[in-house]
Amino acid sequence: MNATELAHTAGAMVAKGKGILAADESSGTIKKRFDGIRLESTEEHRRSYREMLFTAPGAAESISGVILYDETLRQKTRDGTPFPQYLMKQGIIPGIKVDLGAKALAGFPGETITEGLDGLRERLVEYRKLGALFAKWRAVIDIAQDIPSTYAIRANAAALARYAALCQENGIVPIVEPEVLMDGAHSIERCEAVTDLALSAVFSELSRARVLLEGMVLKPNMVISGKKAAHRAGPEVVAEATLRTLRRHVPPAVPGIAFLSGGQSAVEATLHLGLMNRIGKPLPWALTFSYGRALQDDALRAWGGQTANFGAGQKAFSKRARLNGLAADGRYNAEMENQAA
Ligand code: 13P
Repeated sequence: MNATELAHTAGAMVAKGKGILAADESSGTIKKRFDGIRLESTEEHRRSYREMLFTAPGAAESISGVILYDETLRQKTRDGTPFPQYLMKQGIIPGIKVDLGAKALAGFPGETITEGLDGLRERLVEYRKLGALFAKWRAVIDIAQDIPSTYAIRANAAALARYAALCQENGIVPIVEPEVLMDGAHSIERCEAVTDLALSAVFSELSRARVLLEGMVLKPNMVISGKKAAHRAGPEVVAEATLRTLRRHVPPAVPGIAFLSGGQSAVEATLHLGLMNRIGKPLPWALTFSYGRALQDDALRAWGGQTANFGAGQKAFSKRARLNGLAADGRYNAEMENQAA
């Protein structure tokens, strides 16, 4: 493991005014997204959709890295350049989702454990050869009446730490993603309490596993009310609660934090990030985005699976990328939403 290289890559992933595009939807998830625009999920449709995003003019100014799915890492642009090579040429770092999904946790109804550790070392060696310089593993913590349990939080934190250590052994920067879901009707206070527990467990396991904090990126949820909560906390409250929680748990040695959007609307996700970067200063780490839906939803709708709308999809994507880049830099304001792309 080369600590300097890991720290260099991690720093580049969270460079000033830039963030990460999560385009690592598994085959099942991308099918769901395409169902929404009534498009069949064929390999070619998935390829051309990803090509639309990766080649969007101007996007590279705000995008530091892209998380790919196994299939996408092996696909090429229309003119035959492998996606990882194409991205590198634009100054965008290719990454790879390596977990195999959240599966039911035996003995704990309603809770999950993320799988994919067996054989991971060998897969990482191959992914590195294919050009991936960072990876992602997502643990899922759901909130409901009697969950999460302490056991589920610990088991998921332990898996994240084993994954992170394996990545670093192979020269790959781990994105450590403990996602506390915003599905449900819980309050922001409950989200804060659970996020506290999750982050505390994650950093204690990372330390036990001898993970180099300088060579990783944390991908957390924001502290936010459940989607179905009767009264949802406003943007300032979300920003303050999220900053407070992260300050309690994330050591300054971690170079950056890149949020997931988790079902927030595109504008909400940008607004929250922008606020945190405005009111939080000085921050011990870079605070940016690693959004999936919040970066892609507008682009997916504008494209609609039609070749004729390729340019419109790219324009929508570049606009969201640019606004999130500004938010990561503390320069976003809501009026920018109405200005031309
Ligand atoms: P969302 O931003 O859509 O939550 O996706 C980010 C991600 O990579 C989840 O693992």
